[in-house]
Amino acid sequence: MNAVEPDITLRDLILESRDRLESAGVWFGHGTDNALDEAAWLVSHAAGLPPDFDEAELDRTLTPGQVQSARELITRRIETRQPAAYLTGEAWFAGLPFHVDERVLVPRSPLAELIAERFQPWLAPERIHRVLDLCTGSGCIAIATALTLPEARVDASDISEDALTVARRNVARHGVGERVQLYRSDLFDALPDREYDLIISNPPYVDAQDMAALPAEYRREPALGLAAGETGLDLVIPMLQRAGRYLAADGVLIVEVGNSAEALQATFPQVPFVWLAFAHGGEGVFLLDAAQLRAHQADFDALGQSEPEA
Ligand SMILES: C[S@@+](CC[C@H](N)C(=O)[O-])C[C@H]1O[C@@H](n2cnc3c(N)ncnc32)[C@H](O)[C@@H]1O
Repeated sequence: MNAVEPDITLRDLILESRDRLESAGVWFGHGTDNALDEAAWLVSHAAGLPPDFDEAELDRTLTPGQVQSARELITRRIETRQPAAYLTGEAWFAGLPFHVDERVLVPRSPLAELIAERFQPWLAPERIHRVLDLCTGSGCIAIATALTLPEARVDASDISEDALTVARRNVARHGVGERVQLYRSDLFDALPDREYDLIISNPPYVDAQDMAALPAEYRREPALGLAAGETGLDLVIPMLQRAGRYLAADGVLIVEVGNSAEALQATFPQVPFVWLAFAHGGEGVFLLDAAQLRAHQADFDALGQSEPEA
């Protein structure tokens, strides 16, 4: 005869799951940075609660079905090494929920903080009319920007049709279809010929050495969203070569390059990249204005990787 399990509360199951995640050595880096938060996220999902459930819920007794599905979810997390966001189908970015699955990177860019600040002090929000989000993935940056700047129109592009399918779903979910236009494009190739007040991007920027050492969880994400050649600059250099042409005279380019910042600065020591600071963590985000980009066009072109503009 099976022993009857005593009542299990949400708290009990979260603590049990925390211990399982910790002893399995899973990696945290896709929305949480510790086993307790990850356990709370997955168990609350299995129990049908929102990730920001009320603390009073911790004493709630779970049904046997909820206990079983939470334990199974934790087992899947451990055995498949899928980031929790793929298992729940949802990630939060800039305080907003986005549908995610294995076709897109799990949103986690520090650019969320800049979006919440409406790009101040770098730009006056009321002067941002047109925005371009290059390498949009799930569409999180484009959509959050459109919601924080209700007067702005946002173009967003990705080379991956799979990613754009997810982005389309998120655009519809947030009701911004009239102001966010998605394009399938290799960087600027298929974009309309227009000027933007802001070009923003979180492109692939992981160098070959880091790619080879990535924890298993990152290998569940599309490599197209991460890998950027030997130095991590395969996307950023063409972006620098071409962005000036698409920026308004007082526009700015803001790009996340993570720990490829060092390689970028070493490649262009003469370029005055402004490296942005973030109160909630994150680094490797640079800003250049249109005048700086144009002043250094010859330096960027000297690397010779860009397609000539028609
Ligand atoms: C690091 S992910 C970022 C996704 C999203 N912006 C975010 O912050 O979560 C980079 C994205 O760039 C896309 N990508 C890769 N190469 C590209 C290219 N040549 N042109 C446009 N997009 C590209 C990938 O498909 C992926 O969706």
